[in-house]
Amino acid sequence: MKKNKKKKKRARSRKSPEDIAAKALRTASLQKKKNSIPANAKAEEQDQAKAKAQPKGKRKILEVVDLKVHYPIYGGILYRKIGEVKAVDGISFTLHEGETLGLVGESGCGKSTIGKTLINLLQLTVSGIHVTGQILFHQEDGEIIDLAPLSKQEMLPYRSQIQMIFQDPYSSLNPRLTVGEIIEEPLVVHCPILKSQDRKKMVVGLLEKVGLGGEQANRYPHEFSGGQRQRIGIARALATKPRLIIADEPVSALDVSIQAQVINLMQDLQDEFGLSYIFIAHDLSVVEHISDRIAVMYLGNIAEIGEGEKIYHSPVHPYTKALLSAVPLPEPGLKKQRLALKGEIPSPLAKPSGCGFRTRCPIAQNDCALNIPPLEEKEGRQVACPYV
Ligand SMILES: Nc1ncnc2c1ncn2[C@@H]1O[C@H](COP(=O)(O)OP(=O)(O)OP(=O)(O)O)[C@@H](O)[C@H]1O
Ligand code: SF4
Ligand SMILES: [Mg+2]
Repeated sequence: MKKNKKKKKRARSRKSPEDIAAKALRTASLQKKKNSIPANAKAEEQDQAKAKAQPKGKRKILEVVDLKVHYPIYGGILYRKIGEVKAVDGISFTLHEGETLGLVGESGCGKSTIGKTLINLLQLTVSGIHVTGQILFHQEDGEIIDLAPLSKQEMLPYRSQIQMIFQDPYSSLNPRLTVGEIIEEPLVVHCPILKSQDRKKMVVGLLEKVGLGGEQANRYPHEFSGGQRQRIGIARALATKPRLIIADEPVSALDVSIQAQVINLMQDLQDEFGLSYIFIAHDLSVVEHISDRIAVMYLGNIAEIGEGEKIYHSPVHPYTKALLSAVPLPEPGLKKQRLALKGEIPSPLAKPSGCGFRTRCPIAQNDCALNIPPLEEKEGRQVACPYV
């Protein structure tokens, strides 16, 4: 009888692997509280109370302030620094909980650079890279952390909350590890107190969550199709219960029908876990489908940012207009006027002065060479052009 009672008590207090993982991640986050940015304790308390009071969905999760990322270029016999690529040149935006921000623009405009900078990947891996500005990550308790200057060790507790999904699901999965080991890896790093059998249980749960059976855990990445591999990448990203996922062209390498399946899966997971997404793509029609808001980038700057519907159906910036005119219409037979842009996108090594778009802009003025136009409120969105 006594034995039975004990057994019941044990069963009641037994925690699921998910509970243990969540506790481990919370503890790690608490240990790093000292990285919190407000110096004035009272102001900090007020900020936290304000953030908590805001309804979920309206609360900020990320604020990027005047972010600049310049890559060094080395050359000559002595291999000295001879210039820099201004890949991201003063970008600011805000992301809310449960929201998807689509980031679009032509190849080389700096989309991936932003994604990698947000998780501190470039700062820690590219020597000589110059990153300025703030990456303010809002914690659930209202605390705000600037991720930009953190070291690898300091970044660790926040990395579990921000995960990345990459374009090429094959090269981003280690071919020598089984799928189970790949998904388990972040749990080993971020939840070292979890027992191996608990991690394995979580892996099975994650595989099922992304529409693959738990029995697939012992197979290797090359035994899966492109769409299935991207599902594995998503399961790996979900392992640490992130709040924000940066998806860098997650469907560009997939067939159109598979693209829709992966996007639907991402939307379902967003609804279930309240995830926030930064969804990077060069295809505006893909971004329009998934995004609440869209930021259109050109040569390291944001040209236009606002509600997805508005940007997609009534663009204001001349670059957004040209980009949209290149999107094919869904119904055959329908025609629209294509606004062909003259010339090639300039190299970020030799960015035009003033507005980066001026060498291709159909309405460029003399003044456009003077200053980088700031984002201004126009027709319910923000546009970086004073002449529209
Ligand atoms: N390690 C690096 N060193 C120097 N320049 C770089 C480096 N990585 C990227 N760049 C340059 O920075 C600019 C932005 O690159 P990025 O990869 O962010 O563009 P992107 O918008 O993601 O392009 P794509 O759509 O082709 O993926 C490009 O001009 C690129 O050549
Ligand atoms: S600022 Fe000038 S060059 Fe830039 S988009 Fe406006 S009109 Fe065109
Ligand atoms: Mg890219």
